[in-house]
Amino acid sequence: MAKNAELVELTNKYLIENYGRLPVAMVRGAGAKIWDADGTEYLDFFAGFGAGGVTGHCHPAVVSAIKAQADTLLSHGNLFTSEPQIDLARRITENAFGGKVFFCHSGAEANEAALKLVRLAAGEGRYKIISFNDCFHGRTMGSLSLTPESFQKGFEPMLPGNVMVDYNDLDAVAAAVDDETAGVFVEPIQTEGGVNEPTVEFMQGLRRLCDEKNLLLVCDEVWTSPARTGKWFAHQHYGFEPDVMTVAKAIGGGLPIGVCVASPKYADVLVPGTHGCTMGGNPLCAAAGVATMKLIEDENLLDRAEKLGGQIVQMIQDAKIPALREIRGKGILIGLQFDAERQTKPIMLECMEQGLLVCIAKKNVLRLAPPLTITDAELNAGMKILIDVLKG
Ligand SMILES: Cc1ncc(COP(=O)(O)O)c(C=O)c1O
Repeated sequence: MAKNAELVELTNKYLIENYGRLPVAMVRGAGAKIWDADGTEYLDFFAGFGAGGVTGHCHPAVVSAIKAQADTLLSHGNLFTSEPQIDLARRITENAFGGKVFFCHSGAEANEAALKLVRLAAGEGRYKIISFNDCFHGRTMGSLSLTPESFQKGFEPMLPGNVMVDYNDLDAVAAAVDDETAGVFVEPIQTEGGVNEPTVEFMQGLRRLCDEKNLLLVCDEVWTSPARTGKWFAHQHYGFEPDVMTVAKAIGGGLPIGVCVASPKYADVLVPGTHGCTMGGNPLCAAAGVATMKLIEDENLLDRAEKLGGQIVQMIQDAKIPALREIRGKGILIGLQFDAERQTKPIMLECMEQGLLVCIAKKNVLRLAPPLTITDAELNAGMKILIDVLKG
Protein backbone atom coordinates (compact mmCIF):
# COMPACT_ATOMS: atom_id res chain seq x y z
CA MET A 1 0.00 0.00 0.00
CA ALA A 2 1.24 3.52 -0.80
CA LYS A 3 2.86 5.46 2.07
CA ASN A 4 2.47 9.10 3.14
CA ALA A 5 5.37 10.42 1.03
CA GLU A 6 4.10 8.92 -2.21
CA LEU A 7 0.49 9.99 -1.59
CA VAL A 8 1.54 13.52 -0.67
CA GLU A 9 3.58 13.77 -3.88
CA LEU A 10 0.57 12.65 -5.92
CA THR A 11 -1.66 15.08 -4.01
CA ASN A 12 0.67 17.93 -4.90
CA LYS A 13 0.54 16.84 -8.52
CA TYR A 14 -3.23 16.42 -8.89
CA LEU A 15 -5.02 18.48 -6.24
CA ILE A 16 -5.21 22.25 -6.07
CA GLU A 17 -3.30 23.45 -3.02
CA ASN A 18 -5.95 25.65 -1.42
CA TYR A 19 -5.75 24.09 2.05
CA GLY A 20 -2.14 24.28 3.27
CA ARG A 21 -2.25 20.51 3.84
CA LEU A 22 0.02 18.69 6.25
CA PRO A 23 2.18 15.96 4.64
CA VAL A 24 0.03 13.06 5.83
CA ALA A 25 -2.47 10.82 4.03
CA MET A 26 -5.24 9.25 6.12
CA VAL A 27 -6.35 5.71 5.37
CA ARG A 28 -8.63 4.47 8.15
CA GLY A 29 -10.70 5.72 11.06
CA ALA A 30 -12.52 4.03 13.95
CA GLY A 31 -14.19 5.94 16.77
CA ALA A 32 -11.77 8.49 18.23
CA LYS A 33 -8.81 7.09 16.27
CA ILE A 34 -7.48 7.66 12.79
CA TRP A 35 -4.50 6.06 11.03
CA ASP A 36 -2.22 7.43 8.32
CA ALA A 37 -0.65 5.63 5.37
CA ASP A 38 2.56 4.96 7.34
CA GLY A 39 0.53 3.15 9.99
CA THR A 40 0.76 5.95 12.59
CA GLU A 41 -2.21 6.03 14.95
CA TYR A 42 -3.68 9.35 16.13
CA LEU A 43 -6.31 10.23 18.70
CA ASP A 44 -8.59 12.64 16.88
CA PHE A 45 -9.58 15.79 18.79
CA PHE A 46 -9.56 17.71 15.48
CA ALA A 47 -12.68 16.14 13.99
CA GLY A 48 -11.91 17.28 10.44
CA PHE A 49 -12.87 20.91 11.22
CA GLY A 50 -15.97 19.63 12.98
CA ALA A 51 -17.22 17.39 10.20
CA GLY A 52 -15.53 14.24 11.49
CA GLY A 53 -18.42 14.28 13.75
CA VAL A 54 -19.76 13.83 17.17
CA THR A 55 -20.23 10.12 16.52
CA GLY A 56 -16.55 9.40 15.74
CA HIS A 57 -15.04 7.79 12.68
CA CYS A 58 -17.01 5.08 10.89
CA HIS A 59 -19.46 4.45 13.71
CA PRO A 60 -20.90 0.95 13.08
CA ALA A 61 -24.50 2.22 13.30
CA VAL A 62 -23.81 4.95 10.73
CA VAL A 63 -21.83 2.62 8.46
CA SER A 64 -24.52 -0.06 8.51
CA ALA A 65 -27.22 2.54 7.69
CA ILE A 66 -25.08 3.76 4.76
CA LYS A 67 -24.52 0.19 3.51
CA ALA A 68 -28.19 -0.69 3.74
CA GLN A 69 -29.17 2.50 1.90
CA ALA A 70 -26.43 1.98 -0.71
CA ASP A 71 -27.96 -1.40 -1.51
CA THR A 72 -31.40 0.15 -1.92
CA LEU A 73 -31.47 3.64 -3.48
CA LEU A 74 -28.71 6.25 -3.88
CA SER A 75 -30.54 9.16 -5.47
CA HIS A 76 -33.86 10.05 -7.03
CA GLY A 77 -33.86 13.76 -7.82
CA ASN A 78 -35.94 16.23 -5.89
CA LEU A 79 -39.05 15.94 -8.05
CA PHE A 80 -39.58 12.97 -5.73
CA THR A 81 -39.29 12.40 -2.02
CA SER A 82 -38.05 9.48 0.06
CA GLU A 83 -38.22 8.18 3.60
CA PRO A 84 -34.64 8.97 4.73
CA GLN A 85 -34.99 12.68 3.96
CA ILE A 86 -38.40 12.86 5.58
CA ASP A 87 -37.06 11.07 8.67
CA LEU A 88 -34.03 13.36 8.92
CA ALA A 89 -36.13 16.51 8.45
CA ARG A 90 -38.57 15.32 11.12
CA ARG A 91 -35.78 14.60 13.61
CA ILE A 92 -34.16 18.00 13.04
CA THR A 93 -37.32 20.07 13.27
CA GLU A 94 -38.73 18.14 16.25
CA ASN A 95 -35.50 18.66 18.18
CA ALA A 96 -35.29 22.35 17.19
CA PHE A 97 -38.23 24.72 16.69
CA GLY A 98 -40.54 23.00 14.21
CA GLY A 99 -40.82 24.40 10.70
CA LYS A 100 -39.40 22.81 7.56
CA VAL A 101 -35.97 22.11 6.08
CA PHE A 102 -34.08 22.45 2.79
CA PHE A 103 -31.23 19.99 2.17
CA CYS A 104 -27.91 20.60 0.42
CA HIS A 105 -24.34 19.39 1.04
CA SER A 106 -22.29 21.93 2.97
CA GLY A 107 -22.39 24.74 5.49
CA ALA A 108 -21.77 27.44 2.92
CA GLU A 109 -24.58 26.13 0.74
CA ALA A 110 -26.92 26.04 3.72
CA ASN A 111 -26.05 29.69 4.39
CA GLU A 112 -26.68 30.55 0.72
CA ALA A 113 -30.17 29.06 1.08
CA ALA A 114 -30.67 31.06 4.28
CA LEU A 115 -29.51 34.27 2.57
CA LYS A 116 -31.97 33.80 -0.28
CA LEU A 117 -34.77 32.93 2.13
CA VAL A 118 -34.03 36.08 4.18
CA ARG A 119 -34.09 38.32 1.09
CA LEU A 120 -37.38 36.86 -0.14
CA ALA A 121 -38.99 37.06 3.28
CA ALA A 122 -37.80 40.62 3.91
CA GLY A 123 -39.24 41.80 0.60
CA GLU A 124 -38.08 44.21 -2.06
CA GLY A 125 -35.56 46.86 -1.08
CA ARG A 126 -34.47 45.04 2.08
CA TYR A 127 -31.28 43.11 1.45
CA LYS A 128 -28.61 44.13 3.96
CA ILE A 129 -27.32 41.58 6.42
CA ILE A 130 -25.60 42.24 9.73
CA SER A 131 -22.95 39.74 10.82
CA PHE A 132 -20.17 39.82 13.41
CA ASN A 133 -16.44 40.44 13.55
CA ASP A 134 -14.57 37.13 13.93
CA CYS A 135 -17.47 35.18 12.42
CA PHE A 136 -17.13 32.52 9.74
CA HIS A 137 -20.00 31.59 7.42
CA GLY A 138 -18.27 29.92 4.46
CA ARG A 139 -16.40 30.42 1.19
CA THR A 140 -19.13 30.83 -1.44
CA MET A 141 -19.64 34.41 -2.62
CA GLY A 142 -22.78 34.95 -0.54
CA SER A 143 -21.51 33.38 2.68
CA LEU A 144 -18.11 35.04 2.10
CA SER A 145 -19.91 38.39 1.97
CA LEU A 146 -20.88 37.84 5.61
CA THR A 147 -17.41 36.70 6.65
CA PRO A 148 -14.56 39.06 7.68
CA GLU A 149 -12.60 41.02 5.09
CA SER A 150 -9.42 38.98 5.59
CA PHE A 151 -11.16 36.06 3.80
CA GLN A 152 -12.58 38.29 1.03
CA LYS A 153 -9.30 39.65 -0.30
CA GLY A 154 -9.09 39.32 -4.09
CA PHE A 155 -12.71 38.28 -4.51
CA GLU A 156 -14.40 41.68 -4.24
CA PRO A 157 -16.94 43.00 -4.90
CA MET A 158 -19.01 41.19 -2.30
CA LEU A 159 -22.80 41.29 -2.00
CA PRO A 160 -23.61 44.93 -1.26
CA GLY A 161 -24.71 46.48 1.99
CA ASN A 162 -23.52 43.98 4.56
CA VAL A 163 -22.32 45.35 7.87
CA MET A 164 -20.11 43.66 10.44
CA VAL A 165 -20.18 44.68 14.09
CA ASP A 166 -18.68 43.37 17.34
CA TYR A 167 -20.07 40.14 18.81
CA ASN A 168 -21.84 40.70 22.12
CA ASP A 169 -22.43 44.39 21.31
CA LEU A 170 -26.18 44.84 21.01
CA ASP A 171 -25.94 48.64 20.72
CA ALA A 172 -23.70 48.24 17.68
CA VAL A 173 -26.26 45.94 16.05
CA ALA A 174 -29.07 48.40 16.77
CA ALA A 175 -27.01 51.25 15.30
CA ALA A 176 -26.28 49.24 12.14
CA VAL A 177 -29.96 48.58 11.32
CA ASP A 178 -31.56 50.76 8.65
CA ASP A 179 -34.61 50.54 6.38
CA GLU A 180 -32.77 48.22 4.01
CA THR A 181 -31.67 45.69 6.63
CA ALA A 182 -33.16 42.25 6.09
CA GLY A 183 -31.58 40.07 8.76
CA VAL A 184 -28.81 39.13 11.15
CA PHE A 185 -26.52 36.09 10.87
CA VAL A 186 -25.00 34.91 14.14
CA GLU A 187 -23.11 31.85 15.39
CA PRO A 188 -24.28 30.74 18.83
CA ILE A 189 -20.58 30.18 19.57
CA GLN A 190 -18.08 31.72 17.12
CA THR A 191 -15.99 28.69 16.36
CA GLU A 192 -13.43 29.45 13.63
CA GLY A 193 -13.10 32.93 15.15
CA GLY A 194 -11.69 31.60 18.43
CA VAL A 195 -14.49 29.70 20.24
CA ASN A 196 -16.07 32.96 21.43
CA GLU A 197 -19.19 32.67 23.54
CA PRO A 198 -22.02 35.19 23.53
CA THR A 199 -23.83 36.28 26.67
CA VAL A 200 -27.42 35.17 27.25
CA GLU A 201 -28.39 38.87 27.38
CA PHE A 202 -26.85 39.48 23.96
CA MET A 203 -28.58 36.54 22.29
CA GLN A 204 -31.96 37.32 23.85
CA GLY A 205 -31.46 41.01 23.09
CA LEU A 206 -30.71 40.15 19.48
CA ARG A 207 -33.96 38.18 19.30
CA ARG A 208 -35.91 41.13 20.74
CA LEU A 209 -34.24 43.61 18.39
CA CYS A 210 -35.00 41.44 15.35
CA ASP A 211 -38.64 41.19 16.43
CA GLU A 212 -38.89 44.96 16.95
CA LYS A 213 -37.29 45.79 13.59
CA ASN A 214 -38.94 42.92 11.70
CA LEU A 215 -35.57 41.32 10.81
CA LEU A 216 -34.93 37.63 10.33
CA LEU A 217 -32.51 36.12 12.85
CA VAL A 218 -30.37 33.36 11.35
CA CYS A 219 -28.32 31.07 13.59
CA ASP A 220 -25.37 29.44 11.87
CA GLU A 221 -25.01 26.15 13.75
CA VAL A 222 -22.70 24.54 11.20
CA TRP A 223 -19.95 23.93 13.78
CA THR A 224 -22.00 23.88 16.95
CA SER A 225 -24.55 21.19 16.20
CA PRO A 226 -25.85 18.59 16.58
CA ALA A 227 -25.16 17.74 20.24
CA ARG A 228 -21.57 18.97 20.36
CA THR A 229 -22.26 21.63 22.99
CA GLY A 230 -24.54 19.45 25.14
CA LYS A 231 -27.78 20.57 23.47
CA TRP A 232 -29.10 19.41 20.12
CA PHE A 233 -28.52 22.95 18.85
CA ALA A 234 -26.35 25.49 20.65
CA HIS A 235 -28.88 28.35 20.56
CA GLN A 236 -30.88 26.25 23.04
CA HIS A 237 -28.37 27.26 25.72
CA TYR A 238 -29.52 30.86 25.40
CA GLY A 239 -33.29 30.60 25.71
CA PHE A 240 -34.38 31.89 22.31
CA GLU A 241 -35.34 30.56 18.89
CA PRO A 242 -34.00 31.84 15.57
CA ASP A 243 -36.12 32.26 12.44
CA VAL A 244 -33.68 30.26 10.37
CA MET A 245 -30.92 27.85 11.35
CA THR A 246 -28.15 26.32 9.25
CA VAL A 247 -26.58 22.96 10.05
CA ALA A 248 -23.92 20.85 8.29
CA LYS A 249 -20.63 19.09 9.17
CA ALA A 250 -21.28 16.57 11.98
CA ILE A 251 -24.93 15.88 11.18
CA GLY A 252 -23.86 13.68 8.26
CA GLY A 253 -21.90 11.31 10.50
CA GLY A 254 -19.05 11.65 7.97
CA LEU A 255 -21.07 12.20 4.78
CA PRO A 256 -21.81 15.68 3.37
CA ILE A 257 -25.11 17.25 4.39
CA GLY A 258 -26.14 20.88 4.65
CA VAL A 259 -29.48 21.90 6.11
CA CYS A 260 -31.35 25.18 6.16
CA VAL A 261 -34.17 25.06 8.71
CA ALA A 262 -36.95 27.64 8.47
CA SER A 263 -39.23 28.26 11.46
CA PRO A 264 -42.99 27.73 10.95
CA LYS A 265 -43.44 31.46 10.16
CA TYR A 266 -40.93 31.29 7.27
CA ALA A 267 -41.35 27.63 6.24
CA ASP A 268 -43.18 28.48 3.01
CA VAL A 269 -41.07 31.41 1.78
CA LEU A 270 -39.05 29.32 -0.68
CA VAL A 271 -41.47 28.08 -3.34
CA PRO A 272 -40.87 26.14 -6.58
CA GLY A 273 -38.34 27.93 -8.77
CA THR A 274 -36.71 29.97 -6.01
CA HIS A 275 -33.95 27.59 -4.91
CA GLY A 276 -32.66 24.08 -5.37
CA CYS A 277 -29.83 21.56 -5.04
CA THR A 278 -29.84 18.59 -7.40
CA MET A 279 -28.45 16.01 -4.98
CA GLY A 280 -29.57 17.72 -1.77
CA GLY A 281 -31.25 15.31 0.62
CA ASN A 282 -30.21 12.28 -1.40
CA PRO A 283 -31.17 9.09 0.44
CA LEU A 284 -27.59 7.97 1.09
CA CYS A 285 -26.53 11.11 2.99
CA ALA A 286 -29.93 11.43 4.62
CA ALA A 287 -29.72 7.84 5.92
CA ALA A 288 -26.33 8.66 7.46
CA GLY A 289 -27.89 11.75 9.07
CA VAL A 290 -30.80 9.74 10.47
CA ALA A 291 -28.38 7.17 11.93
CA THR A 292 -26.35 10.01 13.50
CA MET A 293 -29.37 11.67 15.07
CA LYS A 294 -30.68 8.30 16.29
CA LEU A 295 -27.34 7.46 17.87
CA ILE A 296 -27.26 10.79 19.73
CA GLU A 297 -30.73 10.06 21.08
CA ASP A 298 -30.31 6.35 21.85
CA GLU A 299 -26.94 6.76 23.57
CA ASN A 300 -27.87 9.97 25.37
CA LEU A 301 -24.91 11.79 23.86
CA LEU A 302 -26.20 15.21 24.93
CA ASP A 303 -25.40 14.34 28.54
CA ARG A 304 -22.13 12.77 27.45
CA ALA A 305 -21.10 16.08 25.82
CA GLU A 306 -21.59 17.93 29.07
CA LYS A 307 -19.76 15.30 31.11
CA LEU A 308 -16.81 15.07 28.70
CA GLY A 309 -16.54 18.85 28.48
CA GLY A 310 -16.46 19.09 32.27
CA GLN A 311 -13.73 16.44 32.47
CA ILE A 312 -11.60 18.21 29.86
CA VAL A 313 -11.93 21.61 31.53
CA GLN A 314 -11.10 20.10 34.94
CA MET A 315 -7.98 18.36 33.57
CA ILE A 316 -6.78 21.57 31.95
CA GLN A 317 -7.42 23.62 35.09
CA ASP A 318 -5.65 21.07 37.30
CA ALA A 319 -2.63 21.07 34.99
CA LYS A 320 -1.89 24.78 35.62
CA ILE A 321 -0.66 25.32 32.08
CA PRO A 322 1.69 28.26 31.58
CA ALA A 323 0.52 31.06 29.25
CA LEU A 324 -3.06 29.73 29.20
CA ARG A 325 -5.29 32.75 29.59
CA GLU A 326 -8.82 31.38 29.24
CA ILE A 327 -10.82 28.22 28.62
CA ARG A 328 -13.95 28.81 26.53
CA GLY A 329 -16.73 26.76 24.96
CA LYS A 330 -19.41 24.29 25.86
CA GLY A 331 -19.56 20.49 25.84
CA ILE A 332 -16.90 19.10 23.54
CA LEU A 333 -16.27 22.33 21.69
CA ILE A 334 -13.46 23.84 23.72
CA GLY A 335 -11.12 26.72 22.97
CA LEU A 336 -7.89 27.32 24.87
CA GLN A 337 -6.83 30.95 24.62
CA PHE A 338 -3.09 31.49 25.17
CA ASP A 339 -1.08 34.67 25.68
CA ALA A 340 -0.15 36.50 22.47
CA GLU A 341 3.41 35.12 22.38
CA ARG A 342 2.25 31.48 22.68
CA GLN A 343 1.45 30.46 19.09
CA THR A 344 -0.79 27.42 18.63
CA LYS A 345 0.61 26.06 15.33
CA PRO A 346 3.75 24.61 16.99
CA ILE A 347 1.54 23.11 19.71
CA MET A 348 -0.62 21.47 17.06
CA LEU A 349 2.42 20.05 15.24
CA GLU A 350 4.02 18.79 18.46
CA CYS A 351 0.76 17.09 19.51
CA MET A 352 0.59 15.44 16.11
CA GLU A 353 4.15 14.12 16.55
CA GLN A 354 2.95 12.57 19.81
CA GLY A 355 -0.17 11.00 18.22
CA LEU A 356 -2.86 13.58 18.97
CA LEU A 357 -4.70 15.72 16.43
CA VAL A 358 -5.92 19.12 17.63
CA CYS A 359 -6.92 22.20 15.69
CA ILE A 360 -6.15 25.88 15.61
CA ALA A 361 -9.08 28.28 15.83
CA LYS A 362 -6.88 31.39 15.81
CA LYS A 363 -3.16 32.05 16.16
CA ASN A 364 -3.46 31.86 19.93
CA VAL A 365 -6.51 29.64 20.33
CA LEU A 366 -6.34 25.87 20.26
CA ARG A 367 -9.60 24.05 19.57
CA LEU A 368 -10.47 20.65 21.02
CA ALA A 369 -13.38 18.69 19.54
CA PRO A 370 -13.14 14.98 20.39
CA PRO A 371 -16.06 12.76 19.37
CA LEU A 372 -18.83 12.13 21.89
CA THR A 373 -18.21 8.41 21.55
CA ILE A 374 -14.63 8.67 22.87
CA THR A 375 -13.87 6.29 25.75
CA ASP A 376 -12.58 7.61 29.08
CA ALA A 377 -9.26 5.81 28.47
CA GLU A 378 -8.88 7.50 25.07
CA LEU A 379 -9.79 10.87 26.52
CA ASN A 380 -7.24 10.49 29.31
CA ALA A 381 -4.55 9.39 26.84
CA GLY A 382 -5.23 12.34 24.55
CA MET A 383 -5.33 14.85 27.38
CA LYS A 384 -2.05 13.50 28.76
CA ILE A 385 -0.36 14.11 25.40
CA LEU A 386 -1.85 17.61 25.21
CA ILE A 387 -0.95 18.59 28.75
CA ASP A 388 2.61 17.22 28.43
CA VAL A 389 3.08 19.22 25.22
CA LEU A 390 1.60 22.36 26.78
CA LYS A 391 3.78 22.07 29.87
CA GLY A 392 6.87 20.93 27.99
C1 LIG B 1 -19.97 28.46 11.39
C2 LIG B 1 -19.64 27.97 10.01
N1 LIG B 1 -20.50 28.20 9.01
C3 LIG B 1 -20.28 27.77 7.76
C4 LIG B 1 -19.12 27.08 7.45
C5 LIG B 1 -18.89 26.60 6.05
O1 LIG B 1 -19.12 25.22 6.02
P1 LIG B 1 -18.62 24.35 4.77
O2 LIG B 1 -17.14 24.31 4.83
O3 LIG B 1 -19.27 23.03 4.99
O4 LIG B 1 -19.12 25.04 3.56
C6 LIG B 1 -18.20 26.82 8.46
C7 LIG B 1 -16.95 26.10 8.17
O5 LIG B 1 -16.06 25.98 8.96
C8 LIG B 1 -18.45 27.27 9.78
O6 LIG B 1 -17.60 27.07 10.79
